[in-house]
Amino acid sequence: MLDWEKLKTSCRKRVRTVYNACVRRPPAGFVATDLPELNAVKERALARTSMNEHLETIFLEALTMQPLLIVELGVGGGESNFALQRAARLTGARLVSVDLNDRAHVSQEPGWLFVQRDDIAFAAEFPDWCRRQGFEPVIDVLFIDTSHLFEHTLQEMQAYFPYLAPRAKVMFHDTNLSKVFYRQDGSMDLGWDNERGVIRALEVYFKKSFNEKKPFTDFVRPWLIRHNPHCAGMTILERLPFLAQPR
Ligand SMILES: C[S@@+](CC[C@H](N)C(=O)[O-])C[C@H]1O[C@@H](n2cnc3c(N)ncnc32)[C@H](O)[C@@H]1O
Repeated sequence: MLDWEKLKTSCRKRVRTVYNACVRRPPAGFVATDLPELNAVKERALARTSMNEHLETIFLEALTMQPLLIVELGVGGGESNFALQRAARLTGARLVSVDLNDRAHVSQEPGWLFVQRDDIAFAAEFPDWCRRQGFEPVIDVLFIDTSHLFEHTLQEMQAYFPYLAPRAKVMFHDTNLSKVFYRQDGSMDLGWDNERGVIRALEVYFKKSFNEKKPFTDFVRPWLIRHNPHCAGMTILERLPFLAQPR
């Protein structure tokens, strides 16, 4: 019997291959900087993945926070982990990564703390767990890239936001996920329809609607919100306590 789903997926993959072959590739390589970690991230970002156009952003946004503690929810194949590990290395931050599945193999970085657990269940144990490791449960940078489902994303915000430092940054991947998504370099790739799960959770949290198809910046006191629609979307929240009250 003909498996229509398999046939459709195979057709979509062929269309992607042909489409991307027609897209002019940006010149290969990059201009090296004085920071080997930044160069490593730039090099990794040359290969097209669902995350590659955000790797440099993840690295720089984490680095410039000079964090003590970074928490990554969703390790997967280790793309975001690669960038966060390098920011942690340069700042001396602890990196705690959580995933339902065993992803311990994605990095050999000394000091990396990997927890195989459902992230919502782990949140309840987080303060005691951190203190047992010898540090306070105060998160400077939180990276969220797990189920991409609406209810779960809201639960993650409710579960982890209480642990954020007063000045903190939260990055969400897949805020513009759909069956087909485009990169800034013009290429396309295959995703799935999560019914705007992640961006909808942000809309509920901020009581505001967002157009995730376009780049935007917004400010909902005291949160600066920046959004890049490319490569399935990346939205960065930055809590700015010095702007908590109108001036
Ligand atoms: C899209 S992948 C993450 C990709 C990764 N950030 C990267 O850049 O390569 C999503 C990951 O979230 C994990 N995940 C899904 N639901 C989860 C949950 N409730 N708690 C912890 N991890 C979860 C999955 O096991 C999967 O590895």
